[in-house]
Amino acid sequence: MLGIVFTSLIEMLEDNVSPDFADEVLEQANLANDGAFTAVGYYPFSEMQKLLLVLEQKTGTPVEQLLYDFGYYLFGKLAAKHGQVLSGKKNILDVLNCLDNDIHVQVRKLYPDADLPKFSVLSRTATEMKLRYYSTRELYTLAEGLMDGAANHFGNKIQRQVVKLDEAHTYQFTIFMEA
Ligand code: HEM
Repeated sequence: MLGIVFTSLIEMLEDNVSPDFADEVLEQANLANDGAFTAVGYYPFSEMQKLLLVLEQKTGTPVEQLLYDFGYYLFGKLAAKHGQVLSGKKNILDVLNCLDNDIHVQVRKLYPDADLPKFSVLSRTATEMKLRYYSTRELYTLAEGLMDGAANHFGNKIQRQVVKLDEAHTYQFTIFMEA
């Protein structure tokens, strides 16, 4: 998993709680690198899971909710750092429509070893989209947070539904955008 994901999580703790709290979480997670991440480095996903479990224990907030909150925050960070990948996109559905064939392709050019999920568009109208998500990491609540963060970025109001499909590691999202 890319370092920018770790550094953004730590920044979220520093911004939303305090730098001391972020240090405590890093210490208690007992990470292989003592919490020294660089944005362009790569680290095992298991290290992220350790951080989330410590956070769950300390705050009582379930990992799924933590991932949602983090996704929302992360979208803002990614949009600020890599705004060029969003150029030409007018709303949240434009973004979701081209994750696999544009946005994450550009991400792959910046970070060749990024662990990216697979998104495929099943259907789209001006106000509704069905999207399939596949990732062995099953970070669908992170995806929900990213979607809501993106909707907020464009000033769109959306409603979402997610269902787990029978195929392994696969989820289907339905997103409605208010016209
Ligand atoms: C609503 C829009 C987006 C959604 C739903 C989305 C979804 C995701 C998800 C769910 C992951 C976690 C990996 C996994 O599931 O296995 C991910 C990773 C990532 N995405 Fe996106 N993404 C969005 C937009 C963006 C944008 C605008 C950028 C801009 C740079 C971006 C860059 C990345 C990066 C850097 C990673 C980390 C890869 C790694 O850990 O190696 N994403 N994305």
